[in-house]
Amino acid sequence: MESPVENYLHDLHAEIVQNRNGTVYTPGGAPSSADPDCFGICLATADGHVYEVGDTRTEFTLQSISKVFSYALALSDLGFDAVDAKVDVEPSGDPFNEISLAAGTGRPDNAMINAGALAVTSLIKGSGGKSAIKRIVRVLSDCAGRELSVNEPIFEAERRHSDRNHALAYLLRSFDIIEDDPTAVLENYLRHCSVRVTCRDLAIMAATLANGGTNPVTGVTALDLAPVERVLSVMMTSGMYDDAGAWLTSVGMPAKSGVGGGTLAVLPGQIGVAVFSPRLDAHGNSVRGVATSQRLSRELELHFV
Ligand code: DON
Repeated sequence: MESPVENYLHDLHAEIVQNRNGTVYTPGGAPSSADPDCFGICLATADGHVYEVGDTRTEFTLQSISKVFSYALALSDLGFDAVDAKVDVEPSGDPFNEISLAAGTGRPDNAMINAGALAVTSLIKGSGGKSAIKRIVRVLSDCAGRELSVNEPIFEAERRHSDRNHALAYLLRSFDIIEDDPTAVLENYLRHCSVRVTCRDLAIMAATLANGGTNPVTGVTALDLAPVERVLSVMMTSGMYDDAGAWLTSVGMPAKSGVGGGTLAVLPGQIGVAVFSPRLDAHGNSVRGVATSQRLSRELELHFV
């Protein structure tokens, strides 16, 4: 017996599944493992109810969505001032892989573009016997409520075809924004981009952010409130890159997309929304992810700005 919410989600899914526009991300031209037709929608409330329809248990890679959580971890580790000294909080309005560094200082505009995310990853150090990447995967897993892991073949494909990110990492070190070995930083960044999740995981991660950092399904506190608030603010202005203005006016929630096909949106205090569909638009955002989020926002009145 389906709930009214699931009935509604089924109808929405049946409608939007007809949209076959967009292209699937293939790192370096390597064939993608993602089935382009996959489509899942999942909602998780800030008190832990989960509603799902379609391909919500299929794994895909987090990609840029991981930047939200690495930023929160760096802010928790170092405090706001130390992180802000390296990465600004201004929208760049540029594509995700744009250089977007301040003239003179080399400070990236924000932590959602690749340059800013590389700088953020470099700030996260190993601690308590755990490497930096293990600590990042720990936070991601606590937010999802299950043990997540890196998709090694995708990581390897990205590593072999990451000339632009490599160049960015070296450029950042030339400005002392990155102080460690740029190649090691790049590898950690690409590893957290390559963490496998399902659409259901993504909705629970979004609900954890909506709930101020405590996973509402497991009760585990993954992040503190202050970094969560900061991250949501930066997602609001920069999470959807050069589509941020259109997203904000049509969806009105802080959000983050990834080229793996995931989209995560957060209505603070209320709900986490996740969509998985691998075909992307020109901004690197999921076509059905954007279409579904617009409909959900309008029809469930989630638009809050
Ligand atoms: O570094 C990259 O370019 C990819 N690993 C992630 C890019 C991404 O997901 C952009 N978001 N839509």
